[in-house]
Amino acid sequence: MKRGRVFSGARPTGRQHLGNYLGAIQNYVALQEDYECVYCVVDLHALTTLTETEKLKGNTYEMVLDWLAAGMDPETSIIFVQSHVPQVTELHIILSMVTPMGWLTRLPTFKEKVRLQPDNVNYGLLGYPVLMAADITLYKADTVPVGEDQAPHLEFTREIVRRFNHHFGPTLIEPQIKLTHYPRVMGLDRVNKMSKSLNNHIELAFSPEVIEQRVMTMVTDPQRRYRSDPGRPEVCNVFAFHGFFSAQQVEDIESQCRSAEIGCVDCKRSLARNLAASLAPFRQRRAELARDENLVWDVLSDGANRATPIAQETLEEVKIKIGLP
Ligand code: TRP
Repeated sequence: MKRGRVFSGARPTGRQHLGNYLGAIQNYVALQEDYECVYCVVDLHALTTLTETEKLKGNTYEMVLDWLAAGMDPETSIIFVQSHVPQVTELHIILSMVTPMGWLTRLPTFKEKVRLQPDNVNYGLLGYPVLMAADITLYKADTVPVGEDQAPHLEFTREIVRRFNHHFGPTLIEPQIKLTHYPRVMGLDRVNKMSKSLNNHIELAFSPEVIEQRVMTMVTDPQRRYRSDPGRPEVCNVFAFHGFFSAQQVEDIESQCRSAEIGCVDCKRSLARNLAASLAPFRQRRAELARDENLVWDVLSDGANRATPIAQETLEEVKIKIGLP
């Protein structure tokens, strides 16, 4: 018997990187054991920041191929595209009527977007959290695995649910946040979160050669200037990655770095090797899956077919509770 229903969404960002894997995908895969999982490519959310919409389709394909290769299972989980189940837009409008404007303008995520794209502060951007609340509540999810940055949106969803249920009677489920245990995965530059747009990332599907090239550019302990200087693993991003990918060797690497027995170049070479070895089964599986060019689209169409009746049922219930004629 499964414990409950998980819902999570990700914007179609194309090929996934280590930050996506450690922060989200790995967790999505693990949750499939105990929960009924619904995983959504939130293409409508992506429209709030995108100007180059011609990338949406390709990005969706590449991201979902990575998901499948990483072990997200379309047999047990529902994997679908947000816009393929348009009931969410109807629920979005309905929820917007119980959303005080101030709750939206006060959100730190909104303020940040206004700062980042002052020339494109669109209405959709303001409503972003309402659409997210619609995603989660439409599927009656009780558990939402997300990173810390999404915590305000989850709290917002809970408030909307309480408000809706207070007005119209118990209908929607108040979801619990399930914070991912992994710390922020920093990029190759060591100071910014790993992200494709900053080009400080390592894609899961990179070849061993490209992995090595990229790892060699990683910024290590800035105070270690000479090969003979002792290193400080606790501030070194390469060491943080050894923690994820070099299981048995981590203690040796730590002491050899502190005593300057190994230099940063040696340390990076061994990380590149371990990383390539860890990712090899993933790359192979990805290549196998890619042979069937319809696979991703078939998975997504099956996902939408399974998501639709759940969405439809919730929406009907909502409309009845509100009293829409
Ligand atoms: N806002 C989320 C992000 O940027 C994506 C998202 C959209 C989401 N709808 C969701 C996450 C519903 C969890 C549940 O990462």
